[in-house]
Amino acid sequence: MSTSVPVNIPLLSGNEHIYIDQCLQSGWISSEGPFIAEFEKGFSRYIGMDHGIAVSSGSGALDIAVAALGIGRNDEVIMPAFTIISPALSVVRAGGIPVLVDSDPLTWNMDVQQVAQRITKQTKAIIAVHTYGLPVDMDPLLEIAQRYGIPLIEDAAEMHGQLYKNKKCGSFGTVSIFSFYANKLLTTGEGGMLLCNDLVLAERCRKLRNLAFEPAGRRFVHQEMGWNYRMSNLQAALGVAQLEQIEPSILRKKQIGHFYQERLAFMKELGYKLPPASDHAAENIYWIFGLVAPSEEEATDLVRFLAEHNISTRPFFWCMHEQPVFTGMGLFEQERYPVAESLARRGFYLPSGLGISDAHLELVAETIKSYFDGRR
Ligand SMILES: Cc1ncc(COP(=O)(O)O)c(C=O)c1O
Repeated sequence: MSTSVPVNIPLLSGNEHIYIDQCLQSGWISSEGPFIAEFEKGFSRYIGMDHGIAVSSGSGALDIAVAALGIGRNDEVIMPAFTIISPALSVVRAGGIPVLVDSDPLTWNMDVQQVAQRITKQTKAIIAVHTYGLPVDMDPLLEIAQRYGIPLIEDAAEMHGQLYKNKKCGSFGTVSIFSFYANKLLTTGEGGMLLCNDLVLAERCRKLRNLAFEPAGRRFVHQEMGWNYRMSNLQAALGVAQLEQIEPSILRKKQIGHFYQERLAFMKELGYKLPPASDHAAENIYWIFGLVAPSEEEATDLVRFLAEHNISTRPFFWCMHEQPVFTGMGLFEQERYPVAESLARRGFYLPSGLGISDAHLELVAETIKSYFDGRR
């Protein structure tokens, strides 16, 4: 019986304990504590944006970004079909309409060539979602956004420290967002951040994060709706400690990716797709190490075999136009995005969290090899 290999283990090996202890000793456990400003300043500076607004999740950050850009009823927002549901949820909740584009079969990111074709008079924003390890092709996307005067929300939730042509992901958006969920390269357990260069937009995001309290006037009198999406000082304390370790964390992610690339290269001859090690703009940062099987049945069979050997995997995202919650609302009728659909059905990812041991990596690679040896 092999040991169990979870799909993600976070790495908390820096000053996390010391900083959390400082919160407990000082009593600063709410969003009022000093680590919030330190984390906002440190992370925004690291990414290269002027303002950081820490929030309770990446999904909350997207809700705020959509509201702060004034996206509302019947506004169209272009985004990938293949992504986590959060960007589409934010747009639909605001009364807007997600307008989807298919994926690039090589990088698994949104196919930016399709974006221009989907622009209409109702287009209010574009959401770029960097997916799994390589960045969206930002140059053509920025060119389109600029040409049509459309703001860009950059969802860099999975892309801490990744570069697009030597510039950090998360520094391109009119407003950008990150997630710090436990499986992210930098984690606060749960958490997120909005980043932007515009002070007015930053203040708007801050207000929406905190129940839209009015900065002046009678407290508890509100002119509009906001959320409690505040991050706690405890979470920010983790964030500050994690940020100190971000360069070694990036190196470790890449090391995990390179290990799987080398040991699983034989799968390419068997019809599997591995993530590209790089493209024209970036080296893969391998937020997760994904595999795309030659068929849905093969994916199911290998995932089942790994589960029988106590190795956890996760299926890839499920497409937006096939989400029952959206089709039930009459959205995306008859729409097809063949590349995205194929990724969703045939893709899954291997244990690739920062806390994985070399022994577990070895075990995953050997178990996969034994699956194929057994089939010969
Ligand atoms: C691309 C992307 N955007 C947004 C989110 C949402 O972040 P959170 O889980 O912090 O709400 C995630 C979460 O994994 C994500 O991968």
